[in-house]
Amino acid sequence: MKLCFATNNAHKITEVQHLLGGKFDIISLQDIDCTEELPETQPTLEGNAQQKADFVYQHYQVDCFADDTGLEIEALNGEPGVDSAHYDGPERNSQANMQKVLDKLQNNHNRRAQFRTVIALILGGESYTFEGTISGSITSKPSGQQGFGYDPIFIPEGYQQSFAEMSLEEKNRISHRGRAVQKLVNFLHNYQK
Ligand code: IMP
Repeated sequence: MKLCFATNNAHKITEVQHLLGGKFDIISLQDIDCTEELPETQPTLEGNAQQKADFVYQHYQVDCFADDTGLEIEALNGEPGVDSAHYDGPERNSQANMQKVLDKLQNNHNRRAQFRTVIALILGGESYTFEGTISGSITSKPSGQQGFGYDPIFIPEGYQQSFAEMSLEEKNRISHRGRAVQKLVNFLHNYQK
């Protein structure tokens, strides 16, 4: 069974394919000749994931899923949230985004935050969603070289290291995206057409 992962991130596709084994054939946007930018204009992670999946399903008639992720900081009322990629502007600059977070939290003792991933799946004409979260705290300055985005300023609960100080395997085992993907994979493994 073919299932399109509506992302341009080849690494994410390999990761899910690996977890699924042989049951589903995960194909990319490239494989369905979708080269246009997917719309992502909704005010929530759920809305954006669904919008991307709906777009692919409507225009290409394939079963598919899409994801959207955000960093939600308690003291900032959930910001940057759905604006995580472009928090400091359209350049989508990770350093500037992190600095904006640190500036806004200056002198704030409440450093609680979570990463949240939502996956929207369209399969056999039905829609399903899966969510993965990881709680943690925002550091006072960046540390670590691994990962991407806000990894250098996020320490998951129960750990001493930031995500950027962990290996990819270690991060994936506990991360928001890892948890959401695992729920999707469990669902697909049990799916009977
Ligand atoms: P996306 O929905 O996976 O494209 O993520 C949106 C934005 O959230 C990214 O551009 C990053 O700024 C941030 N982000 C998503 N996942 C992570 C992560 O695992 N670590 C750090 N930042 C992330």
